[in-house]
Amino acid sequence: MSSTFGTLLKVATYGESHCKGVGAVLDGCPPGMALSEADIQPQLDRRRPGQSKLTTDRQESDQVTIFSGVENGVTLGTPIGMFVPNKDQRPDDYRAMRRIPRPSHADFTYQMKYGIRASSGGGRSSARETIGRVAAGAVVEKMLRLAYGVEIVAWVSAVSEIQADAVDVQHITRDRVDASPMRCPDPAATEQMAALVSRVKEEKDSVGGIVSCVCRNIPAGWGEPVFDKLEAKLAQAMLSIPATKGFEIGSGFAGTRLRGSAHNDPFKAAGNGLGTVTNNSGGIQGGISNGEPIVLRVAFKPPATIGLAQETVDFDGSPVTLEAKGRHDPCVVPRAVPIVEAMAALVLGDMALRQQARLQMKF
Ligand SMILES: Cc1cc2nc3c(=O)[nH]c(=O)nc-3n(C[C@H](O)[C@H](O)[C@H](O)COP(=O)(O)O)c2cc1C
Repeated sequence: MSSTFGTLLKVATYGESHCKGVGAVLDGCPPGMALSEADIQPQLDRRRPGQSKLTTDRQESDQVTIFSGVENGVTLGTPIGMFVPNKDQRPDDYRAMRRIPRPSHADFTYQMKYGIRASSGGGRSSARETIGRVAAGAVVEKMLRLAYGVEIVAWVSAVSEIQADAVDVQHITRDRVDASPMRCPDPAATEQMAALVSRVKEEKDSVGGIVSCVCRNIPAGWGEPVFDKLEAKLAQAMLSIPATKGFEIGSGFAGTRLRGSAHNDPFKAAGNGLGTVTNNSGGIQGGISNGEPIVLRVAFKPPATIGLAQETVDFDGSPVTLEAKGRHDPCVVPRAVPIVEAMAALVLGDMALRQQARLQMKF
């Protein structure tokens, strides 16, 4: 089922951009955890459109309602259903584009696959689908925080050619990230990024960027070799986010330029066990967490829908000049930050339950 993710902790998202609403059903969350909408809303607020002039002008308050799986403020262990209404749809913006597949969007491929597609707003391919992921991710994050002290923080580390300074992954906080309108903890880079995104928006164009993420306090032992290696599931989770084009863990592609002698992470005594001196592995070895922070990066392309004139063809192959209408993100990375955090939580929550299930049996 293509809209369901996870093994013991499963999330299914539902809804299109311009239907009545979107959301998720999270199945497998253990019983007995205090949970209310207030645990979920802050992450939805960080994802919602219209947060600043640097994002789309679509206005949605994205208020979540929990409609099952929680009674008297406590999880029952049954599926948790969450719903967010769509309010600010403007299907007319898409009328002119019904016969024209937007270059590098999903109109052409959805039409080829299903022979039909949502008539406006991108349907399931719209970033509104990610609301369900963020809602479910917030629940799982709470579970991981209470049970293990897990902390997940993502931030914008690049926009187009502008690279932010390296971040101290042991100490970066969401408050520091949110102090920047770009969600980039480097103030000088923030200024340049914001100026670029404003200019690009005025020019009716778009730019890409990179979201980095750290997951701290992950115990050693999470991850299921060989096909469900932790980095493999994280890669799948991240590359399922719309507009993603790349995934790196630890040293990533840059690691190829180092020798083994420089790249290896020597062990050291730490606490009751071992730690590593460096973390080029990004916290995962052999597909299993090693107790160090998990560090990953996700590349996002420039969003496809732009107001600038593009020469293309319609579904009949006739040449057309497309000047896309609608309210679109000139750069998705500030809003992608909570989505990356949510997908990391969903993978880690599932791996935590899978490891717990194995450890439960005593001989
Ligand atoms: C937070 C977020 C916001 C997005 N906003 C837009 C947008 O305003 N316009 C657009 O064309 N694409 C936007 N996208 C990307 C599209 O949903 C995506 O490019 C499209 O579905 C095609 O899928 P693909 O790029 O993964 O191949 C956004 C993605 C994210 C994560």
